[in-house]
Amino acid sequence: MSPKGDYPEPSFPELVQAASFEMPSAEYARRAIADTGAGYTYFRYGNPTVRRLEEKLAQLEGGEDAVCLSSGMAAIGALLISAHLEGSRLILASRLYGGTTSLVRELIVPLGATVHTFDPTSPDSLAGLLAKESRPALVLVESPANPTLELADIAALANLCHQRGATLAVDSTFATPVLQQPLGLGADYVVHSLTKFISGHGQVGGGAIVARRRLTDPIRRRFVEVFGATLDPFAAWLTLSGLITLPLRMERACGTAKEVASFLAGHPRVNKVNYPFLPDHPQHELARRQMRWGGALIAFEVKGGKEAAEQVVEGLRLIRHRLTLGDAESSILHPASTSHYALSPEERQALGISEGLLRLSVGVEPAGELISDLDQALSRLD
Ligand SMILES: Cc1ncc(COP(=O)(O)O)c(C=O)c1O
Repeated sequence: MSPKGDYPEPSFPELVQAASFEMPSAEYARRAIADTGAGYTYFRYGNPTVRRLEEKLAQLEGGEDAVCLSSGMAAIGALLISAHLEGSRLILASRLYGGTTSLVRELIVPLGATVHTFDPTSPDSLAGLLAKESRPALVLVESPANPTLELADIAALANLCHQRGATLAVDSTFATPVLQQPLGLGADYVVHSLTKFISGHGQVGGGAIVARRRLTDPIRRRFVEVFGATLDPFAAWLTLSGLITLPLRMERACGTAKEVASFLAGHPRVNKVNYPFLPDHPQHELARRQMRWGGALIAFEVKGGKEAAEQVVEGLRLIRHRLTLGDAESSILHPASTSHYALSPEERQALGISEGLLRLSVGVEPAGELISDLDQALSRLD
């Protein structure tokens, strides 16, 4: 038994399910009323495995501080609601994951928050909004954005925000810290869905906020300790395992994605392909400046609208139809009827989410196998 209060750090990959090292279960050992168990007292108030993951994420993103929550949505919600409670207005990119839009509409707006939207590909539209009021603002962008893969110029937006006393948060789920580090480009917060590439095997639900300075304490207090949107220690442990192969998985998947994107761009059944590292991507130069590789996601539009998109998804043999992304196994999804179904057809059209659009998440399979699978499914289109 270790001396009172002297609990060693677990050496990875040890899993500590409970707050106490002595009883790795759902129970808690405390020897005296004053015993705080080296700061670990109860699962909502901290767990060594979750803490280890927070430290690792802060280190990978070049931040001082990180907090993990039960999902990517919990992380985004905690950030937005905290900013609202502190008197900030919220300025959100018009291009966001559909779940984030639902969160804003169904929870954040009913809480009385002031919410504006702007086009993240045009820093001028943000400048106008920031100039309108002197009240502090939290600005949230996704880069690359789900599902169409537009980028936000993080350095330019951070600069604008700081000139006006606003803070910038970047949902970097699609990039991971391997491809871009928003804090190094000037952002104040990075948000991740750990459910995706970071854990990487479709076994985990989780989210994280990493901050440039020690900014997450009120978020931890309100949403992890008091509200209870706490990350499960086993999920943290699986995520720590996933992090070991993250650079390898990303390097492989990004290399393959570029080959697959080039194949799709030349296919007669494909209308257009969005992939940041293809030379005809409208933000290609920004992509090269801001990202190490082009990412593992490809958005492509098949000729023939929804019917053709359905035929392709059903015709694929290797690539599976799944609602998630970022797994070691490739997956495909039809954003208009899944991730962005809550938007009206007009809203989807304005964002370029057409009925023929498919979002492909490239895994670690050989490029040739993925290309053959796509080719046979596309060639069966009437
Ligand atoms: C860019 C982005 N951010 C956040 C989320 C939400 O993450 P989670 O599903 O872990 O709540 C998603 C989910 O797809 C996403 O694509």
